[in-house]
Amino acid sequence: MKKLIVLLVAMSLPMLVQASSGKNEHIVTAPINMDDKASLQKGAQLFVNNCQGCHSANFMRYERVSDDLEIPADIMMENLVFTGGKIGDVMVSAIPQDLAKKWFGTAPPDLSLQARVRGADWVYSYLTTFYADESRPWGVNNHVFKDVGMPHVLQTMQDSLGEKEFKTNMADLTNYMVYMAEPIRATRESLGYKVIAFLFVLLFFVYMLNREYWKDVH
Ligand code: HEC
Repeated sequence: MKKLIVLLVAMSLPMLVQASSGKNEHIVTAPINMDDKASLQKGAQLFVNNCQGCHSANFMRYERVSDDLEIPADIMMENLVFTGGKIGDVMVSAIPQDLAKKWFGTAPPDLSLQARVRGADWVYSYLTTFYADESRPWGVNNHVFKDVGMPHVLQTMQDSLGEKEFKTNMADLTNYMVYMAEPIRATRESLGYKVIAFLFVLLFFVYMLNREYWKDVH
């Protein structure tokens, strides 16, 4: 019994620590929807155009994106595959890592799994909370990533689109990054519903069978 209590307490510790560590007030809920193909397509486009210059997505192939998000291969090649890549290639960045490190102080990390490492809300909040800070090398800082080494590469977009549309774009981009971090998720979720439906059907038959077995005993 004592052992069990110790085990239970040990298991709940991480949760307690997380609850007491306090949340960054700037982290807001990312308004994303993984069933929204149009949003995911837009996000993919935003990603290759604005992020892949510095960040790779080494666990992702263009072909997979094209298949999953229903982007026809020719449109994919024309609009989303730069750097002379082929459709079967992984999404690498052209930037030499050592140079990037010299320019930014840190090499831009691979973003394949970013949304799973930090969470969708963190990513969305990060993308939407750059602010001017003259003391920083790029003149910007970030509310959820203090003293970040990444320049505010979306400044022009933010200025030209206005806050509302910019945020919609960032939601699309976050949506895409969540998809990219777990491409199997949509399949897994729909499979989950099917499995539960199947278990209900099975439950019915098992129940009937159980009644049949005990009929004569009672
Ligand atoms: C000019 C190069 C450059 C571009 C373009 C760029 N980034 Fe970055 N990014 C960086 C660097 C450098 C870092 C590392 C910052 C640090 O650790 O201080 C970084 C860090 C990040 C992080 C935080 C990673 C972590 O440590 O958890 C995220 C998320 C991110 N970038 C997303 C994006 C997205 C999304 C885009 C496209 C809109 C983008 N970046 C475009 C250079 C870039």
